[in-house]
Amino acid sequence: MDQASYRNLIDSIPFGKRLPTAHYVHRHVASSEFPPALSELLAAAEKRFEVSDDFNVVKLKLNELKLSYLAYPEFFTVAHPELRKVVTIDLVRGRARHVDYSANRNAPILHRKEAFLPPDHEYAARFHALTAAEEQAGLYANPRSIGFRLNWECILREKGLEIDGHTLRERPGPRPSGPAEARVTIHRHKTAIHRTELSKPLKCAIEVGLLRTNDTVFDYGCGLGTDVAGLTALGHIAIGWDPGHFPNAEKRPP
Ligand SMILES: C[S@@+](CC[C@H](N)C(=O)[O-])C[C@H]1O[C@@H](n2cnc3c(N)ncnc32)[C@H](O)[C@@H]1O
Repeated sequence: MDQASYRNLIDSIPFGKRLPTAHYVHRHVASSEFPPALSELLAAAEKRFEVSDDFNVVKLKLNELKLSYLAYPEFFTVAHPELRKVVTIDLVRGRARHVDYSANRNAPILHRKEAFLPPDHEYAARFHALTAAEEQAGLYANPRSIGFRLNWECILREKGLEIDGHTLRERPGPRPSGPAEARVTIHRHKTAIHRTELSKPLKCAIEVGLLRTNDTVFDYGCGLGTDVAGLTALGHIAIGWDPGHFPNAEKRPP
């Protein structure tokens, strides 16, 4: 199947959540409404890559011959269920990639669940009512920050709200005061990893000729300093500063 035919099949699914690069549908609720050629394609992929029934949401890429199966075990029972596992299938290469999020403390979560269902599904109205209440409460004002469990819970607390079942309501007790950052300790230095080679951005900068021999580098947020050491070894004058790892280094031009 070519890209255009695949895209036509996706466009003819009568429900689902459309984002700029992919179309999402619940896998089990209305597969009889999928175009037959798409059902056949999915069935073949599921058989070949042994995609179990736990994978209940299908993500169909719009501009690539790829699809992913996502496992949200609590799709119907929890207001914003967590993503536990993903299997991404490349239909051209015939390969599958598995990612397991089950140990992730800040797992990706779902919103607007009604969008994954046909409009007449028995749960659609309940999910839609929750989405409408959340929108009304201004919880979607910054959509980029709501997609992960801890961020979402923080936003709810900030607004003095909580979710009971699929109902948004006022949280009992006093509202927290002061900005969230003042109450939550964020261990930013922990994002620095041990490297055995230069970081990707620097490799790219060297490859495309952006960083030439004798150029100087100040690495602001240098982590454990591996890039500084690597660049020095390559003949650059490189120094760095990091609030967690090199807080006493001088912030000055190299
Ligand atoms: C993902 S690590 C990258 C470290 C290093 N550049 C590397 O590639 O290995 C991000 C680093 O930014 C540092 N950092 C956090 N907040 C910062 C800030 N406001 N200004 C500068 N660096 C910061 C952290 O301490 C951490 O070491």
